[in-house]
Amino acid sequence: MWQKAIEDALQVTARNFDRFGDRFPHVSEDGKHYTLNDNTEWTAGFWSGILWLCAEYTGDPAFREQAVKTVRNFRSRMDRKIVFDHHDIGFLYSLSSKAQWILERDEEARALTLEAADMLMKRWREAPGLIQAWGREGDAENGGRIIIDCMLNIPLLFWAHEQTGRESYLRAAERHAHKSRRFLVRGDGSSYHTFFFDPQTGDSIRGGTHQGYRDGSTWTRGQAWGIYGFALAARYLHSADMLDTAKQMARYFDARLPADRVAYWDFDAPITPDTKRDSSASAIAACGLLEIADQLDESDPERDFFRGAAEASMISLVRHYSTHGDPEAEGLLKHGSYSVRGGASPDDYVIWGDYYYLEALMRLERGAAGYWYERG
Ligand code: GLY
Repeated sequence: MWQKAIEDALQVTARNFDRFGDRFPHVSEDGKHYTLNDNTEWTAGFWSGILWLCAEYTGDPAFREQAVKTVRNFRSRMDRKIVFDHHDIGFLYSLSSKAQWILERDEEARALTLEAADMLMKRWREAPGLIQAWGREGDAENGGRIIIDCMLNIPLLFWAHEQTGRESYLRAAERHAHKSRRFLVRGDGSSYHTFFFDPQTGDSIRGGTHQGYRDGSTWTRGQAWGIYGFALAARYLHSADMLDTAKQMARYFDARLPADRVAYWDFDAPITPDTKRDSSASAIAACGLLEIADQLDESDPERDFFRGAAEASMISLVRHYSTHGDPEAEGLLKHGSYSVRGGASPDDYVIWGDYYYLEALMRLERGAAGYWYERG
């Protein structure tokens, strides 16, 4: 089943070379066609990541050539600092230049990825002890704000520390992860999307949301970023606490899935026949569950639980949410939502959903774990 789903995804991706040209897909707005940009969105790395996954799986130079072209484009984005004022530099460069380094040991790709880590470090704020997600330093609203999504950006810093031995990367990533664990994750394993601190003193102010149903609700994709992000932090830090948090968040996620095991957009949104799903949240969570399972001993009884939960959701995504290689389809996964709250692409293709769906399939099919960390 996984192999067939990967073959379908390869076909859609190969057709997208011509459709997208040198541009980058972001989300659909009509449920059919991706909006394209010139590498200006926070999501551009996911297209690069999809191309690298396809290149790695097939060994086909056509996929590699497209992937390398995207890395050149990321070089140019770095040189011109195009839309760099945010923490998503981690997403952008982990799946583009870092992927090329991991697969090919290309020194220029490594150097570009280290430049990206330095750019992300510019967002480290010493006084409150956090990586500022959005806005410029001193920004009145965002100056002391963290976002759970950042847990997928800090692997870039953990990696840069491994590569260079520079403690500053590790210190920032580790402190940010601990702050996120303490303030974004609640006692029952649910999560805030975002949390505010006083930028001068670091005093905690309040939790809130940006894309969720309400301030105290659990935005499904945020929960999924947490599951995968804390699992990755556990791997880099060899931390049982981080792994426990990832597991706790995963259990919360799993226990609240509807019968078809694909999450609605927020765990606290009222469920009606019109309530939107977020298939991307389930794809991200599947990667996180598989990452957790990978870190558990073969004799650990929870290993089967986490792997089984990931498989069950992936079976549903493949059967009921994928485009099955439809020749007209531009996306791999239907029914993602960008921001139901904001009315932006509430029931659409979202390129990160496609990326994590393919990463999860590759993990299931051959144990290939994406490009968040060096292969063993
Ligand atoms: N990181 C932005 C989002 O998940 O929408």
